[in-house]
Amino acid sequence: MASSWTVSSRTGTSARPATGWYPVARSAQVGTTPLPVGAGGQAYVVLRLRPGAEVTALPARCPHRLVPLAHATVVDGRVQCPYHGWQYGSEGRCVEIPSLGPAGTPPPRADLTAPWAVEERDGWVWLAPERTATLRPPRSGHPVPEPVPPLPTPAGPVLGNLDPSLEHAWHPVALSGELHEGGYVQIRLLGRTWTVHRHGSTLDADPPAWGVVERHGLVWIAPAEPRDTPLPVPETTDPRAVRAWLPPARSSAPAGPLTDLFLDAAHVPVLHPTADAPYAPVAEVTPQAGGSTSVWEEPSAGTRRRTTAVHRAPFQLRRRTDELETGAARTTLFLLQPEDEDSTRVYTCLFLTPPAGTTLDAEEVAAAVAGAGAALTGDLELAAGLASSGLPLLPRDELHVPADAPGVALRRTLADFAADPLRRSA
Ligand code: FES
Ligand SMILES: [Fe+2]
Repeated sequence: MASSWTVSSRTGTSARPATGWYPVARSAQVGTTPLPVGAGGQAYVVLRLRPGAEVTALPARCPHRLVPLAHATVVDGRVQCPYHGWQYGSEGRCVEIPSLGPAGTPPPRADLTAPWAVEERDGWVWLAPERTATLRPPRSGHPVPEPVPPLPTPAGPVLGNLDPSLEHAWHPVALSGELHEGGYVQIRLLGRTWTVHRHGSTLDADPPAWGVVERHGLVWIAPAEPRDTPLPVPETTDPRAVRAWLPPARSSAPAGPLTDLFLDAAHVPVLHPTADAPYAPVAEVTPQAGGSTSVWEEPSAGTRRRTTAVHRAPFQLRRRTDELETGAARTTLFLLQPEDEDSTRVYTCLFLTPPAGTTLDAEEVAAAVAGAGAALTGDLELAAGLASSGLPLLPRDELHVPADAPGVALRRTLADFAADPLRRSA
């Protein structure tokens, strides 16, 4: 039985949960897969850390990036979050944060606020969110569990896909190749439908937009006067860089959390494990006008690799990895179109630079595109389960560790972008 836990104020349901015992599930329903339940209006998951073991109850979201723990797995008798692999013990204690490296110790603030007690009685699992007068759940012939409540939401503002500030930015809306000469495409942007026509070198939008341009192989719309800073993409003029587009993808996750995911290095060893990148390095982050640049070197056993990630508000990201010994480089461009509240179109472009003195053949390019496509699919599968309405902008709504420095800079940039009164006045 856990004791002396405090109620977290990191999420919107910070009111103290009700006292008393709540039936949440039949014992037979609870296995080693987390089961979402509700008790006193609070959302939890219940599970067993080994087959047949006693029941563990934990809050419904991981405090790091608020991923629903319904998607967690049990690894070595611990609950492991699917995003960055943080692991929790039976009473919510955070016992492992992979990005801290082999010698790192999770800080106490990473612990989950577990309920006061969870007990099995007469074939039912009972949960007491708060210290309660009776040490054991009541005997009850016909317990009725309450419906599973909605997941808690951040207490502070989030940047969703329909935020009014997004009117004042350039957004990619189609691949250039999707808009033929004399033709048109219908697209969704910021919750509205637009028709974009091409007449020779002229592009126009209906309803009218402040601007329509073509850049980096994409068509872009600025609904109102843009105040964002264009993302520099030097690879477009590098004669050695081979360009390859991935097919555009779509996600139900908002563009803010997706940009965070594409910038994030700490999830890579967990979601896309490779033998030579066992944990995430800490980046050096430099704030810049309208964004930031983050640089880190991977602790790989083989060739030294340096990654430079450049973000520009709202959702433009260039991630370049240089192999320092060979001169080879690989850049991934992520450009996101906030279509609707629950829909984002993802444009991904690769630029591949071969080692000095060599060239790339079609097979190597195809293999790189396939690898990038597989990584993108993995990311989008994770993103589909985020249950997020946007990127939290208040630092205390999430829990940051050193490897999150690029993500913290991203949040700062987007908080500034969303708060600019000029953009708000639209
Ligand atoms: S480990 Fe859970 S969101 Fe990062
Ligand atoms: Fe990823």
